[in-house]
Amino acid sequence: MTRIRVVGRDQPIEAPEGSSLLAALLAARSPISTSCGGQATCGLCRLTVLQGSSLLSPVNAKEVLHLGNVAKVVSIRLACQALIMGEGEIEIDVPAVVDVAARKREQARRGFAERAQRRRSVPGTQASPETPLEPAPKAAVERIEWRPRMLNPGPEQTPDPDLPADRKQKSQRS
Ligand code: FES
Repeated sequence: MTRIRVVGRDQPIEAPEGSSLLAALLAARSPISTSCGGQATCGLCRLTVLQGSSLLSPVNAKEVLHLGNVAKVVSIRLACQALIMGEGEIEIDVPAVVDVAARKREQARRGFAERAQRRRSVPGTQASPETPLEPAPKAAVERIEWRPRMLNPGPEQTPDPDLPADRKQKSQRS
């Protein structure tokens, strides 16, 4: 059995070799953030190992992905990936529990506010008290004159009586 001392907790936790720090903390009902349940996907279970890091499994690739290479130097671990490998005493500092639902609500609220702000900045999309909308500039309307064009006038067309004789014949042929 390994002793785990948690900063701010009176009672040390006893955990068997092979178990993760997350499992040990959850079994002892010690608060720790997690939303993936130990799958190394949420990155919420990070903690600092203050003493006894040699009793834990080495930092793995999943931890490096979440914590970066510097994690090894500053002794930050993912509790779900840090396995107890030997007997002795480990001291850890677990950050305050994150309310994941509240955090996601806050992210959604912030995202909605940012999108609304972006929409307001596009002229002609939505009125806002901060950015009153100016009327969109009127596009220059080009006046197109429409003229009927006869490519092949039918036989019912009669020549214009005012045309000179040679032009009358020409217009009848075409
Ligand atoms: S519990 Fe989610 S990363 Fe460790």
